[in-house]
Amino acid sequence: MLNGIELIAIVAVDRVWGIGKGGQLPWRLSGDLAYFKEKTLGHAVVMGRRTFESLPGGALTGRENIVMTRQADYEPKGATVVLSQEELAASGFGRLYICGGEEIYRLLLPLTDRCLITKVDTVCGADAFFPDIDALGGFRKISESPPVTESGLTYRFTEYARE
Ligand SMILES: NC(=O)c1ccc[n+]([C@@H]2O[C@H](COP(=O)([O-])OP(=O)(O)OC[C@H]3O[C@@H](n4cnc5c(N)ncnc54)[C@H](OP(=O)(O)O)[C@@H]3O)[C@@H](O)[C@H]2O)c1
Repeated sequence: MLNGIELIAIVAVDRVWGIGKGGQLPWRLSGDLAYFKEKTLGHAVVMGRRTFESLPGGALTGRENIVMTRQADYEPKGATVVLSQEELAASGFGRLYICGGEEIYRLLLPLTDRCLITKVDTVCGADAFFPDIDALGGFRKISESPPVTESGLTYRFTEYARE
């Protein structure tokens, strides 16, 4: 929790917790994008400036987009800026979905209540990572979906809750 705001991280990781490569997602999985949309639609989402700029269609529609940056003059189209965790804490939302990237996941993980983690059964040669919460501890896996295969990749939707 962050000042009464429920924090839910939503992320897709490979076998070694890789999440990104060259500033982009390492894969394009329509089933995972649909899952992401289903979970976040109608809610507020928070992301780092780099992830926001990597979105192919700009701000995510049907969601309140919040972008974290330290640039006071940054004016993203269709999104609200917060300049610090303290400012995010004062945003007044009841729930926030944390949508990356690495810096923002790491920043907010100590306060994160739940993690929705799509586990992709591959090693993608990532240069951005989500913390290995199995090794770190503090969370326990509470559900795992049957495997889905798409474009030659198998993945599962898992959910972790804070212990
Ligand atoms: N697989 C997935 O589910 C998933 C999801 C999202 C992203 N990704 C991937 O993750 C990668 C991007 O991650 P990243 O770590 O490079 O970037 P990021 O976390 O998206 O953004 C980093 C930026 O956030 C801002 N920031 C960080 N800490 C802040 C703080 N305490 N207060 C205010 N602003 C702060 C800074 O912006 P300024 O530089 O403007 O100050 C910083 O440069 C990409 O490859 C992307 O595709 C993967």
